[in-house]
Amino acid sequence: MINVAVVGTGSISNLHIKGLLEFKDRCKIVALCDIYPEKAEDTKKRYNLDCEIFDNHKSMLASGIKIDVVHVCTPPYVHAPISIDCMDAGCNVLCEKPMAPSVEECDKMLEAKKRNNVTLGAIAQNRFRNEVYKLKKVLDSGLVGKLKFIQVNSFWWRDHCYYDLWWRGTWEKEGGGCTLNHAVHHIDMLNWMVGKGPKEVMSMLTNVCHDNAEVEDLSVACVKYDDNSMANIISSVISHGEEQGIVIQCEKAKISMPWDIKAEVGMENGFPTEERNQKLIKEVTDYYNDLPDLCYEAHTGEIDNFLTAIENHTEPMITGEDGKRTIELITGIYASGFEKKTLSLPFEKDSVYYKEGGILKNAVHFYEKTKSVENFSEQRITVGNYKK
Ligand SMILES: NC(=O)c1ccc[n+]([C@@H]2O[C@H](COP(=O)([O-])OP(=O)(O)OC[C@H]3O[C@@H](n4cnc5c(N)ncnc54)[C@H](O)[C@@H]3O)[C@@H](O)[C@H]2O)c1
Repeated sequence: MINVAVVGTGSISNLHIKGLLEFKDRCKIVALCDIYPEKAEDTKKRYNLDCEIFDNHKSMLASGIKIDVVHVCTPPYVHAPISIDCMDAGCNVLCEKPMAPSVEECDKMLEAKKRNNVTLGAIAQNRFRNEVYKLKKVLDSGLVGKLKFIQVNSFWWRDHCYYDLWWRGTWEKEGGGCTLNHAVHHIDMLNWMVGKGPKEVMSMLTNVCHDNAEVEDLSVACVKYDDNSMANIISSVISHGEEQGIVIQCEKAKISMPWDIKAEVGMENGFPTEERNQKLIKEVTDYYNDLPDLCYEAHTGEIDNFLTAIENHTEPMITGEDGKRTIELITGIYASGFEKKTLSLPFEKDSVYYKEGGILKNAVHFYEKTKSVENFSEQRITVGNYKK
């Protein structure tokens, strides 16, 4: 039986707890921790848990309770210190996105993992969605040829008051705006699809709808890979309809999430035929439709995978290295936007943008935070739109 603790019992912890409760025969929630312990008490009651409550993770780790895995569900600025303390206490860690606000902190987490010989996973639960995982399978099948251009539409919508929560909307505590905290999901998918990071990035950042936040609510970035293929990443929390998607142009066809395929063939003059390449379209569509669905999706899928990694002493599907690669690209988008120039990736260790606090030093404050709400009473959240 794997003993699990959850640190941070706000909105997202509900999806972690529901996921863990799917696997009652494999794991037990033994501790909940929140700087507002009454929130942890409420959570304990809501899920009828038999566990201890703590108001800080250090006393939890010193309590003598046997904890095998800690789920870190706090705001981003404390992901690294809490994860490192937990790993130094011998616990395995599954850390919510974004892994940390800087690449240096990600490296410190990876060093703690190595030093303590424990497992570190980074939440990127959308890889465990049928639409996303099947798209990756089609890409890897080779049926559509080499990847040439990816459009990433990380389109979300958040009301003005979203940024009133005390830690949101600040470079210091949230670590960034929609690029770090929302597009993080799609940037993980992008890195996963491509299988490597880009060598160059250029971007623009702005804030057009949230004058109560320091951070960006819209960014447009363009990245280039060492084989000259490119990606265009739009990160937004101003998009009505939240029509999120990834469009992948390959040599032989375009495939996308939500699922679609188009494949052109040319006439003698180079213009596309009206009929398109129906043979390839049928072959790829059949391949896609024959792929089995995942047993568990989203957070539950990733939690299942992480528990399996602990049980079998293997690496989880989404590792700390993956979490770091995502932060590297996001940091590049910020740095290029602040500096107003094209930059090379990854950053060297002596770059200010590699370092903890580097973004904070150079960040553009689009606005200042005008209000700070301790807690919203509404706990329901949505976590993305992946279907047509
Ligand atoms: N994977 C997803 O789809 C997804 C969705 C939403 C949020 N998140 C991420 O989850 C994290 C939490 O977001 P949320 O929306 O649940 O926020 P939240 O504010 O609702 O919950 C965070 C909780 O952490 C507690 N906390 C803060 N500092 C703490 C500390 N030092 N020790 C213990 N508890 C502490 C807060 O009191 C709060 O209860 C963020 O990193 C966010 O980006 C992920």
